Amino acid sequence: MVFSLRRRHKAAAVSACPFSPASTSASGDAPRRTPSWVPQVTDRREAENFVRQFHHEQPGAGDVARRVREVLAEIDRTGTYEHTPDELSFGARVAWRNAARCIGRLYWRSLVVRDLRHVTSADGIAADCFEHLRLAGNAGRIRPVISVFAPDRPGRPAPRIVNDQLVRYAGHRTAEGRWIGDPRGAAPTAHARDLGWKRDEEPFQVLPLMVEERPGARPEWYELPDGCVMEVPLRHPDHEWFAELGLRWYAVPAISDMTLEIGGVRYPAAPFNGWYMGTEIGARNLADAERYDLLPVVADRLGLDRSSARTLWRDRALVELNVAVLHSFQRAGVTMADHHTESERFLRHIAQEGRHGRPVPADWSWIVPPVSGSTTPVFHRYYDPVDASVRPAFLARES
Ligand code: ARG
Repeated sequence: MVFSLRRRHKAAAVSACPFSPASTSASGDAPRRTPSWVPQVTDRREAENFVRQFHHEQPGAGDVARRVREVLAEIDRTGTYEHTPDELSFGARVAWRNAARCIGRLYWRSLVVRDLRHVTSADGIAADCFEHLRLAGNAGRIRPVISVFAPDRPGRPAPRIVNDQLVRYAGHRTAEGRWIGDPRGAAPTAHARDLGWKRDEEPFQVLPLMVEERPGARPEWYELPDGCVMEVPLRHPDHEWFAELGLRWYAVPAISDMTLEIGGVRYPAAPFNGWYMGTEIGARNLADAERYDLLPVVADRLGLDRSSARTLWRDRALVELNVAVLHSFQRAGVTMADHHTESERFLRHIAQEGRHGRPVPADWSWIVPPVSGSTTPVFHRYYDPVDASVRPAFLARES
């Protein structure tokens, strides 16, 4: 396999245990946030609706009336209730099925659900996030995985992962105003530095994982250890010079800042991943003017005329960049979908859900790929309207 594994940063190499927080050595205090909210008692109606949906879709799951009584009694007694492992798996999978912005929902049933509700320490969460990346990476055959850590309880918020993805590249602006790395990583880069992390001048430096054991407290931070960040160096099938650009991207997109809400219970630390569709990297991360902004660079190497927008130099460079991304992942043996195939799968998903009598709410502006939209079948139609109150769901985090 051709992917390269990232070496552990020096700061972590000196620590005896790769999972031990390095933040204890940090100098100075990072600003503390006071949480502006406190988790409330679990909503009884949400809980009941979920239990009924679970039993409706899983007819073999047992006596629904009894389970509803049990859950409501537990809420009355403790302010919340505990999902059974089967309820948790079902809830996480349906949250994916309900994700209106996701084109990759055909495989929602195959989501691997790791029940880590007992893990509450920052060290434990970090260690299990690293294990998540290994399991999901699966030596290139990417598996969709979610790791569900402890839920919020009334009056007691659960730990949070600060990073928006488990793997993300650092970014900062030089004194001359030039960007090094991913501008999208600028805020977490600044945050990590406040905590004592040392950044390099490299364009693809992986950020440390930051975990807040108690919301509002100073996060612990951890370098991602050897062997858990799979990356693919980018090259182009026809242009030798492309490899000289030194571009790369990581294999596993793992969102870590969304709250999973199931039956009124909120899981704020529940990182989940799928596999990449090529355009996410080739038409956005590396191409957007607010990200790596590489279209002018690629266009110049292709010898395109950039004197006027009408030469379509951007469009032509964009296609070659996307060719390179798909080619490189395939060559490295790392799962990646192209936008034509993924579009067809999405329409199959809609047909399949229709056979179960279920609508597929979808957000057109997110579903249609950012290149060649009209060449894919998802462009030429409308979708069921999006209802923000649908649960289970992945929600933008409130805090
Ligand atoms: N678009 C995001 C990125 O480029 C990842 C979002 C999730 N993508 C996915 N294929 N599951 O990093």
